[in-house]
Amino acid sequence: MSRQLTFKIFRYDPLQPEIKPYTQEYQLEEASGMTVFIALNLIREKQDPSLQFDFVCRAGICGSCAMVINGVPTLACRTLTKQYEDGIVTLLPLPGFGLIGDLSVDTGKFMRSISERLQAWLEPKDHEVDIHSLEIPMESEEAEAIYEADRCIECGCCVSSCATAQMRDTFVGAVGFNKVARFALDSRDSREVEDFYHIIGDEDGVFGCMTLLGCQDNCPKDLNHQGQIAYLRRKISMSDRII
Ligand code: SF4
Ligand code: SF4
Ligand code: FES
Repeated sequence: MSRQLTFKIFRYDPLQPEIKPYTQEYQLEEASGMTVFIALNLIREKQDPSLQFDFVCRAGICGSCAMVINGVPTLACRTLTKQYEDGIVTLLPLPGFGLIGDLSVDTGKFMRSISERLQAWLEPKDHEVDIHSLEIPMESEEAEAIYEADRCIECGCCVSSCATAQMRDTFVGAVGFNKVARFALDSRDSREVEDFYHIIGDEDGVFGCMTLLGCQDNCPKDLNHQGQIAYLRRKISMSDRII
């Protein structure tokens, strides 16, 4: 027999600042295999069309549906309701991002600014491209390491899990460190870790990180933030190109 779920959802519309933020409760019958994402869609379809939240892929790929579910930043489309024994699900928008409304936040602005600060695009060693030359094969180990870092879906869960990022909005954070590691690993790119020193070599970078690893705990793609942070710290500390 299915049970009743209670959803306690943060409500606020920045376009109506005269209405203070509040929590709204909804009741919903649980279905087999129900995710928080499915529940939110049912609530919006059947109970409250004004409820704001984001999604695109429903498959843990686009990163749009990230929100704080019972205290943990995570993806609504990958979260089964059956894990909550008391049937109570509390939903808040991800902290650290501009609020669009209710559970919808603007992660894009943050991710774009991090990418621009880090110049997170390939800076080839050779700027002259000869389209007639043969492709240069990449070692499979290197390709796999790049692929691993490229699995980041820019959902923002690591930013919302990070105390330093919440205190200082200039902190590069785990998503930025992952981008540095990705391009430093790439043998086609002209930059090494040390070339990012001016961005990650101070308290806005790896030396401001408290290493409590909320980023790693809550990354839905299980990226190796612990290893990356240690690697970047070691490379930056040992570089003889600095000062
Ligand atoms: S590193 Fe993980 S938690 Fe952070 S944005 Fe990428 S996928 Fe999301
Ligand atoms: S380990 Fe560093 S980047 Fe990760 S959550 Fe903690 S302070 Fe933030
Ligand atoms: S809807 Fe795309 S990750 Fe959840």
